[in-house]
Amino acid sequence: MRLKVAVLAGDGIGPEVTREATNILRAVAELGGHDFTFVEGLIGGVAITETGTPLPTATVDASLDSDAVLLGAVGDNKFNSLTPDKRPEAGLLQIRQALGGFANLRPSVGYKALSASSPLRPEVTEGVDILFVRELLGGLYFGAPRWWNKESNEAINTMRYTRDEVVRVARVAFELASKRRKKVTSVDKANVLEVSQLWRATVTEIAKDYPDVTLEHQLVDSMAMHIMNVPRNFDVVLTENLFGDILSDEAGVITGSLGMLPSATVGGAVNLYEPVHGSAPDIAGTGKANPLGAILTAAMVLRHSAGLEQDARAVEQAVFKVLEAGYRTADIARGGENIQLVSTQEMGKHVHQALAESIDRRQALHAV
Ligand code: IPM
Ligand code: MN
Repeated sequence: MRLKVAVLAGDGIGPEVTREATNILRAVAELGGHDFTFVEGLIGGVAITETGTPLPTATVDASLDSDAVLLGAVGDNKFNSLTPDKRPEAGLLQIRQALGGFANLRPSVGYKALSASSPLRPEVTEGVDILFVRELLGGLYFGAPRWWNKESNEAINTMRYTRDEVVRVARVAFELASKRRKKVTSVDKANVLEVSQLWRATVTEIAKDYPDVTLEHQLVDSMAMHIMNVPRNFDVVLTENLFGDILSDEAGVITGSLGMLPSATVGGAVNLYEPVHGSAPDIAGTGKANPLGAILTAAMVLRHSAGLEQDARAVEQAVFKVLEAGYRTADIARGGENIQLVSTQEMGKHVHQALAESIDRRQALHAV
């Protein structure tokens, strides 16, 4: 299997967590005899500093020329005074648009080993397995008009969706649900917004093509509450861009840390993979960053771009084992016994070790 990955490490903790993720991909390649190559590109604050723009053309070209794009994080407080179109985040929105992926998959899992890290009670978080399907190219993030008139003290952003944009992301959600627990929860604000009424009507229509999948609708405000109260009730959660941004961070509470959450964006020319967490400038370079979100993102690369489902699972299992063994970065070191605080790099090494053991075992099984 050959795979060319564009690595856009970005700002803050981006480079340090991405290094651990690419190490894991290299290990999978080596253990399985695959040919993975990596090319690096600039994005975000580092790109502004070095080239004057948050997304240089060279980065777009290298990304479009790859089989998968693995992104670390963007964002640097140094650029806080700039308008949204000039900030590091603009680079991220532009690469999303350039690659064209519209369905951002954000799994949120309640790990038993991490139940002490979540402020929620273990009986609420245990066994939770939610997959958010966040629409990534529409809504307030990209709608026009958008401006801030400093004379009139007025600003505007536009939440706009077309039927086709809803159809394509809804299909992704139903397809995924039909291979899981067969339930889609569509989240909107249809009691107030026309956009949400279009969303709800369209999703209801698409659901007819998937008779084995149950569809329910939730308003975003009460959904925010249900996610904390009864997270086990949800399987696939389908929603528009901003609601998905907010709810997926909220769901980080279930796992215990935003640092645990991976994501994959599919449906475009090249899939884009990024952990849900940001650049965390306050801990950048301290070795405190949790690389597991990035490593689980690497597992999604294996699943969705390399077709290596078994290896994707092996990486996820390795993460699971390392957590069971008690290894913790600072963000997940709350409570529990036999906890051992480790650095970003050490955590990566432990996952690597667990992975090598499980792949060795699999190969030994195949050999007999
Ligand atoms: C995310 C982030 C981004 C978003 C920012 C950095 C533009 O919060 O991926 O969730 O809002 O989509
Ligand atoms: Mn976010």
